[in-house]
Amino acid sequence: MLKSSPTIELTALYEISKLLGASLNLKANIRGVMRVLAEYLDMKLGTVALRSGDEISILAAHGMSEDEIKKGRYRLGEGIIGRVAKIGSPIVIPNIGDEPLFLNKTGSRKIVQRENIAFLCVPIKFKNEILGVMSVDRLFGGKTVSFEEDLRLLKIIASLIGQAVKLHEEVARERETLIEAKESLARQLEGKYKVDNMIGRSSRITEVFGEIHRVAPSRANVLLRGESGTGKELVAKAIHFMSPRSKERFIKFNCASIPEGLLESELFGHEKGAFTNAIIARKGRFELADKGTIFLDEIGDLPLALQPKILRVLQEKEFERVGGEKTISVDVRLIAATSRNLEDLVAKGQFREDLYYRLNVVPVFLPALRERKDDIPLLIEHFLEKYNKENDKTISIKPSAMDTLSAYDWPGNVRELENTIERLVVMSSGDKIEPSDIPALIRDKSTGAKYGIQLQDALPSAVKDIEKLRILNALHATNGVHAKAARLLGITSRQIGYKIKKYNIELRAG
Ligand SMILES: Nc1ncnc2c1ncn2[C@@H]1O[C@H](COP(=O)(O)OP(=O)(O)O)[C@@H](O)[C@H]1O
Ligand SMILES: [Mg+2]
Repeated sequence: MLKSSPTIELTALYEISKLLGASLNLKANIRGVMRVLAEYLDMKLGTVALRSGDEISILAAHGMSEDEIKKGRYRLGEGIIGRVAKIGSPIVIPNIGDEPLFLNKTGSRKIVQRENIAFLCVPIKFKNEILGVMSVDRLFGGKTVSFEEDLRLLKIIASLIGQAVKLHEEVARERETLIEAKESLARQLEGKYKVDNMIGRSSRITEVFGEIHRVAPSRANVLLRGESGTGKELVAKAIHFMSPRSKERFIKFNCASIPEGLLESELFGHEKGAFTNAIIARKGRFELADKGTIFLDEIGDLPLALQPKILRVLQEKEFERVGGEKTISVDVRLIAATSRNLEDLVAKGQFREDLYYRLNVVPVFLPALRERKDDIPLLIEHFLEKYNKENDKTISIKPSAMDTLSAYDWPGNVRELENTIERLVVMSSGDKIEPSDIPALIRDKSTGAKYGIQLQDALPSAVKDIEKLRILNALHATNGVHAKAARLLGITSRQIGYKIKKYNIELRAG
């Protein structure tokens, strides 16, 4: 029986309103409410079910197991809970034992108990919207009782719950909108800093991507700096294809690729008879690149004698072919690249300072792969896909092999990594690349890195390191079988056992 003293009622309502705002977890809050109801109001069983479309399901309950709660699902109009959800007004069943509509779906009431249980069911509403249903079982002693008072109180509680449900819905919706906005922003940014054919998510490389995006639309000369294999040529192409010149030609020329004597005619062309083999006139690279982009790789190898002519094209946009008098005008954007230290060359007088400044309008530095190791797994996956396609294979890589490749320093940068993956795909007979498939050179160096071994250490410790490395490699090669590894090293099993202990060697599985 509800203890309907006004003070108790007020205390309960106060507790309930506090609980409904207690946390962002609606289910937990409502569970608290049900507990208070049970405590203050002699309620044996209670549920709060919420409507979602045409289904009503129990969110929280008192006096029911989780299993029973899960069974509490009703279609709109089904049973008493379904009906209240449909019509939006309370239903009271004075004695559920007499009521055929009573489904007892959750199975939480024993048949014997049904004799003297009343069932009170009120809609949870917000304004005119029916959000769900609250139900309460209450025991009564057999004599006729009025449920007026109980209903009045339950309606108040239901309306408090309605407000809370609505608030939570709104918060959830707002949160979703915020998450969506954040994700779309991230997508935009990712798109913004994407460069065709270039893989990488590390901060170092995304910075470069950003620079490429900023410099591409202009016609500024760009100087790409970075070790061999870091992607300078790839960047040069990307800049061209993202520039207004993308429909025009991209002409690439490596200044270190041909003998000095032929460079000038390669770059600027020659007239017929300019030299012994000049049977016909020929355009040079600058002429071919007119309106487009010229990419001069290894610009540090440009002979001093040729540098004034390059400077003139950049400044005056004109030149003469070798053996020619006619001045030719071109509109060319220059992108130069070098892996050498141009400042050193300038200091040594091997590179003209004025040309250096002309080239260096926008320098872009490509990080070595070891400075952006986070990108190694991404690149490996990328090259695996590429070379699987090329070779009609479906080879994947074991995590342990991925670790080995990630630990290596890659002095040849992305080019070396790409070549290594191609070789692994081509040579592999299995379907998974194992650490033992990886070339010993890479494995040794990465093992060294993994175990913190520095080969340039002082000699005595270096000797120890080499011994430790040899043991590690032998163990690797023999899958950790000590006897086999000892044989490989030409020592006894006892000796290898002693050394493994001495060096504290632990072989990682895989
Ligand atoms: N970020 C990258 N994503 C994918 N491939 C790359 C990336 N950087 C370099 N490569 C690849 O590595 C190889 C060497 O790049 P390249 O541009 O020729 O380097 P560099 O000119 O600096 O020597 C090329 O096959 C290139 O496609
Ligand atoms: Mg190159």
